[in-house]
Amino acid sequence: MATAVHDLIDTDRDLLRAQFRRDVLTGLAQRQKAIPARWFYDHRGSELFEAITRLPEYYPTRTEAGILMAHAPRIGRMVGSRHHVMVEFGAGSATKTPLLLDAIWTAAYVPIDISGDFLEEACAALAQRYPDLPIHPVEGDFGTPTRLPPEVEGHPRLGFFPGSTIGNMEPMAAADLLRAMRSTLGEDSLLLIGFDRIKATTELVSAYDDGQGITAEFNLNLACRINRELGGNMPLESLAHRAVWNDERARIEMHIEALDPIRFDVCGRRFTMQAGETIHTENSHKYDPRSANTLLLAGGWEPLHCFGDAEDKFMVILARAIGNEQTA
Ligand code: AVJ
Repeated sequence: MATAVHDLIDTDRDLLRAQFRRDVLTGLAQRQKAIPARWFYDHRGSELFEAITRLPEYYPTRTEAGILMAHAPRIGRMVGSRHHVMVEFGAGSATKTPLLLDAIWTAAYVPIDISGDFLEEACAALAQRYPDLPIHPVEGDFGTPTRLPPEVEGHPRLGFFPGSTIGNMEPMAAADLLRAMRSTLGEDSLLLIGFDRIKATTELVSAYDDGQGITAEFNLNLACRINRELGGNMPLESLAHRAVWNDERARIEMHIEALDPIRFDVCGRRFTMQAGETIHTENSHKYDPRSANTLLLAGGWEPLHCFGDAEDKFMVILARAIGNEQTA
């Protein structure tokens, strides 16, 4: 038994390593080099992200928590007294969940996350605090329609997707993800989702280029990871963190920029960068209420209400799955 479980874990790890290798080699061979943001989150990367959420410049986490705290009773009333199964997508450490569990009638909690480690920790903490709440973790990729545990059948679902994680995706992929969530949650479901708002460029850029250099470390940790896990020799001393606002696409982009002309190898393949050339490592799309509503509608969700903060920094939208009825 123990052997079988460990074989499985090893196989998963090999699979993940192969995907990482493929994404890095493909991304470094492109004209504009690019590596998907999901590869930030190894153990160190997850620690650094937690540190980012506590930075004075990084307003999203605390602003969203403030919105949830202030409006939880109202959200609870809008969700109603039917007991919902709360499904959290990419639960991570699930620190915002209690703000909702205290205010919404919940039959069960189903966190879905790709990282089993984080999932276990989060469930243990919640089980302590809510001993009577059934918790059914699902380890998997929430980007594809996912079958929910049989134990939670028969209850309406409330999806929870906080953190403005939707912003990591380009609009087309974001709409696909919203549709996958709709298919996971089913008809008659609700979705509570966080969006970061468009605001002054200086404020946006400093949230992604903080004074302590934590975000720089987070970004450059990707190069460390490539060196360590893929036998790379990227010259860290010649690489720098860049955060730029792309106004046409309404997004913050993170890049790793070469300060000098460099050459390096990854998995035995040679790559070169000119001074000033970058590897695009993340997009963080920002929305206003109208563009967020349009995206939700494209993904199969009808916005019901937008909850915000006094400074219009962030918004949490409650939406309902659009049925199959024909409209004008
Ligand atoms: C976790 C994707 C919401 O885009 O703000 C924070 C990640 N990157 N600082 C974001 C991130 C740099 C974060 N999300």
